[in-house]
Amino acid sequence: MDWGMKNRLSQLIQPDGRCFFMPIDHGYFQGPTRKLEKPEETIKPLFPYYDALFVTRGVLRACIDPVNTKPIILRVSGGTSMVGKDLANEELTTSMEDAVRLNVAAVGISVFVGSDYEQQTLLNLAKLVNEGEKYGIPVMAVTAVGKELEKRDARYLALACRIAAELGAKVVKTYWCENFEKVVNGCPVPVVMAGGPKVETDREVFEFVYDGLQKGAIGVNLGRNIWQNEHPVAMIKALRAIVHENVTVEDAMEIFNTR
Ligand code: 5RP
Repeated sequence: MDWGMKNRLSQLIQPDGRCFFMPIDHGYFQGPTRKLEKPEETIKPLFPYYDALFVTRGVLRACIDPVNTKPIILRVSGGTSMVGKDLANEELTTSMEDAVRLNVAAVGISVFVGSDYEQQTLLNLAKLVNEGEKYGIPVMAVTAVGKELEKRDARYLALACRIAAELGAKVVKTYWCENFEKVVNGCPVPVVMAGGPKVETDREVFEFVYDGLQKGAIGVNLGRNIWQNEHPVAMIKALRAIVHENVTVEDAMEIFNTR
């Protein structure tokens, strides 16, 4: 692997082999998502606890201080909205030149396997990898399901993750699911877990993150279950301890409760 590619990946994946990404890209199709209306205010108290920020170039330039920042994973796919016909109909939105100009550590793109736009989104990924390889910029593929949250099972996610890795993604972001080891074991590149819509209890989040890590995920890219929580700092501290300090669910609950 070339020096630039390796250097960028090492900004994202920490010396312990784990990572904690903070996604605030939801507005690119959801608009002003609850608690993300002013992204800079949402992330300010969380800053010490995440390893990298997943964000679009619009929010990056408008809301994020370029001094004292954390590594950036730039969301470079989009073109659809919650109120449009099909969330899967994405194209590339941002050139690699702009990614270089923004000095990002990686770029991120969604693929919608099994959708009407499967081929289009997979070829978007392949083209992005071709560009990324030229400049030494790793690509994180997001196995998106749009509004079809029920798709999140091991058979489907293993298929989507493997295809993303085959097309050259250096990291794959997917959802936790039952039998998550099937997803990780079939994917030759590191897997990180997204959170999805906010779940009922805090413990549920700790449980799936803990389980996913035991089964081989290297970390999380987890947004709404942190910043939509009533106590986002306590939540991120507890989750960070699971990811980077290998604490148990019980210990994470204790960290959360001593907020
Ligand atoms: C939205 C994304 C998010 O980065 C991803 O879904 C993670 O955030 P959350 O934990 O809130 O699901 O790709 O398009």
